[in-house]
Amino acid sequence: MIAVLRLGHRRNRDKRITTHCALVARAFGADKIIFSGEQDDAVLQSVSSLSKKWGGKFKASYESNWRKTIKAFKEKGVVVHLTMYGQPFNEVVSKIKNKNALIVIGAEKVPREVYDLADYNVAIGNQPHSEVAALAVFLYELLGRTPLQKEFRGWQKKIVPLPRGKKVINKFLRVIGA
Ligand SMILES: C[S@@+](CC[C@H](N)C(=O)[O-])C[C@H]1O[C@@H](n2cnc3c(N)ncnc32)[C@H](O)[C@@H]1O
Repeated sequence: MIAVLRLGHRRNRDKRITTHCALVARAFGADKIIFSGEQDDAVLQSVSSLSKKWGGKFKASYESNWRKTIKAFKEKGVVVHLTMYGQPFNEVVSKIKNKNALIVIGAEKVPREVYDLADYNVAIGNQPHSEVAALAVFLYELLGRTPLQKEFRGWQKKIVPLPRGKKVINKFLRVIGA
């Protein structure tokens, strides 16, 4: 089981980027995302309606107490904090393959305590970039391309890949945009 904990969400500033963290988590093979920081029902709502439309079992929830979430997860798996200050990802991925993992990503300033609670502080290169990019690369390294190729069961809409143009099957209508 792979879960993502998104720390420090700010309703006004982070709506899009937090939603993108959830979209990446889902598409690259995580099972769920837990939002922390300011509660934002609009983000929860948009992730759950997207999952309903495009299928799969991905879940999103809110937890104000990130400390509790991290400590509880340590009972059943490893906690990996993505930060530019961490150790190279290639030194860690092989140690945690096939384990339950909670992947922690920040927004602005991540509290020092997170660095101490994490089993691994991991960098996707030691340059600053983005939690969306860091999460995508880390999940891809951990889970490979299989999640990107799988069918999300229970879909209402599904894309038919084409070299050019757009083709979407809508379960309740017909093929659109061919
Ligand atoms: C805008 S950055 C803030 C940078 C922050 N000072 C830090 O600790 O990395 C927001 C989040 O992106 C992720 N991030 C940014 N650069 C990263 C890198 N090179 N490797 C891993 N994660 C990174 C971290 O999860 C970070 O909390």
